[in-house]
Amino acid sequence: MPAHTTQVGIVGAGPAGLILGHLLHLNGLDSVIVENRSREYVIDRVRAGVLEQGTVDLMTAMGVGQGLSQAGLRHDGLYISFQGQRHRIDLAELTGGKAITVYGQNEVVRDLIDARTGTKRPLYFEADNVSVGGLDSDNPVIRFRHGDADHEVRCDFIAGCDGFHGICRPSIPDGVLTISERVYPFGWLGILAEAAPSSDELVYTLHERGFALFSMRSPKITRLYLQVPPDEPIDEWSDDAIWDEMLTRMTTRDGWRPNIGRIVQKGVTPMRSFVAAPMRYNRLFLAGDAAHIVPPTGAKGLNLAASDVLVLARALKAFYEQGRRTWLDEYSDVCLRRVWRAQRFSWWMTSTLHRSPDETAFDHQRQIADLDYLTSSIAAMTSLAEQYVGLPGEVSFESVGLTRRQEEQR
Ligand code: FAD
Ligand code: PHB
Repeated sequence: MPAHTTQVGIVGAGPAGLILGHLLHLNGLDSVIVENRSREYVIDRVRAGVLEQGTVDLMTAMGVGQGLSQAGLRHDGLYISFQGQRHRIDLAELTGGKAITVYGQNEVVRDLIDARTGTKRPLYFEADNVSVGGLDSDNPVIRFRHGDADHEVRCDFIAGCDGFHGICRPSIPDGVLTISERVYPFGWLGILAEAAPSSDELVYTLHERGFALFSMRSPKITRLYLQVPPDEPIDEWSDDAIWDEMLTRMTTRDGWRPNIGRIVQKGVTPMRSFVAAPMRYNRLFLAGDAAHIVPPTGAKGLNLAASDVLVLARALKAFYEQGRRTWLDEYSDVCLRRVWRAQRFSWWMTSTLHRSPDETAFDHQRQIADLDYLTSSIAAMTSLAEQYVGLPGEVSFESVGLTRRQEEQR
């Protein structure tokens, strides 16, 4: 059986695992990344689109920002639409120049896989029967089957970056984690369409028939979402029915509406808020969706994954370079503070913009009043803007050996 040793074994090659692997590499630390899907599957999976300023700055400072600076779409504002009218919120003006960047998670993951491949450090795709063991010892292991061989990786630490359905969180003994969870009575039907975006900025809509979101991936591709029941069978939606519903919900009184084009991808995602605490068990550290899920309305999931692993990289660097354990011990608390603020924001965006099957007339009028206040008060718009572009990071780039090179992506 091939046996390996490494400093940090990373389970999962999503944004969390790949960013962590690269941060460790930049600090001369060794890692092995083990992913159960194929390279193509991981890159083709259509998910997030909105990167906070801090995530863009991190990618740039890590030296993996070339794609972002060429193809990322910087958005200085967004629209909130209700009662047939769009209201613009100027994110940059309200936050002293911060913005968000629209750049598909596919591209983020592709750029990070390319960077990993360039380092020649191990990254196993299509690993079967991945498991973690020895969690009560000082040398936990990752076991998996790859090709015709069983592998065992002996690690100083394991980073569980294997998403919500991964194996790391369930490997923690019963009774250790406290789970906080909210499951929403709706999901999102999302499509990618070959249509030029009809707006330069995102449009979040509350319509009588439910939520809708206009987004994009490139100057030729529009990304749209519709609120639907959580278990909605996608096969029951013809392309014509999807366009009818999109246009009904999104068209505003001034005639703005998305452009129509060929639908090239469609799917339904259920929505949930979930936090497992603490995000650590001995030498196993959970990061990203493995530890917490937010509903996508606040566009926070990938960004939280990036901030978790920045905190983890700082702690591991300090451990190896100075023998310092305090930042490892503080990892969970430091991350959870940001996680809970993002949970609150995502819950608020979700509950303000979706129609709930059990809502009362009072609830709906309160939503309208909330949106009316939001779009007419500078204080309320500033509050949304500073959370949407991302609250200040918990740890400095310098603490992981990076320097800020923000100007490069402007
Ligand atoms: P993942 O991306 O889930 O990566 C985990 C990896 O682990 C995967 O590659 C998986 O294949 C692998 N894995 C799983 N099990 C195993 C195993 N047993 N062994 C080995 N590997 C395993 N976030 C934003 O910030 N902005 C947005 O605009 C946004 N929009 C979204 C829209 C939608 C429709 C959805 C569904 C999500 C959206 N998100 C958004 C959330 C974002 O996609 C996730 O939060 C992000 O992918 C989390 O990254 P991660 O690396 O923690 O987990
Ligand atoms: C996306 O473009 O996929 C997207 C945008 C904003 C969100 C969620 C997803 O809140």
